Amino acid sequence: MKKTVTILLASLLTVVVGCASYEPLVSMRGADVAAADKAPGELVYAGKRPGTQPVIARTFSTQPPLIPHAVDNFDEVTLTENQCMDCHGPANYVKKNSPKLGDSHFIAATKAFDPSRHNCTQCHVPQVDAPALVENRFIGNIK
Ligand code: HEC
Ligand code: HEC
Repeated sequence: MKKTVTILLASLLTVVVGCASYEPLVSMRGADVAAADKAPGELVYAGKRPGTQPVIARTFSTQPPLIPHAVDNFDEVTLTENQCMDCHGPANYVKKNSPKLGDSHFIAATKAFDPSRHNCTQCHVPQVDAPALVENRFIGNIK
């Protein structure tokens, strides 16, 4: 009997101490786990009509340059269409006064456009003026 009371008291003490040190969990996304995700606010891409802004400085040597201009009005790149090539392609870049495709976008032996580069926005992305989601201490290798 005495032993049972001791065990009971010890258990009670554990619960009381446990409760005292209990801090409610605050989830990183600031909502209850079961709550549905809030739709993020819609942000517009920075950049205006091509030809009206400087290019964005690169931060590391093999970086695909960021797209400085708006892209919202362009058609999506599809299997048969690529509006980016209308300005950046080898046949048009001079008259469109646009930066030429990188040398790496051509097959070295034949000088033909390398079709593996067809999906431009897989590597080149437009920019949004938004605060960084996490602290970023990245330092590039371009002086
Ligand atoms: C109407 C012509 C035009 C079209 C279409 C166009 N661009 Fe551009 N692009 C330009 C011009 C001009 C610049 C030079 C910067 C500026 O004025 O915006 C440029 C700059 C760039 C740069 C920066 C190059 C560097 O050296 O920093 C990239 C990358 C780029 N464009 C990718 C694209 C992609 C990808 C598409 C298709 C989604 C596209 N562009 C469609 C004209 C065009
Ligand atoms: C697999 C990734 C990839 C794809 C796909 C790609 N690029 Fe690039 N692009 C790069 C990289 C990396 C560079 C910078 C180094 C270089 O020239 O290879 C670059 C450079 C450029 C430049 C600047 C060239 C210079 O030297 O100043 C332009 C303009 C450009 N790309 C446009 C395009 C367009 C338009 C397309 C689609 C037809 C495209 N790229 C597809 C990775 C890519």
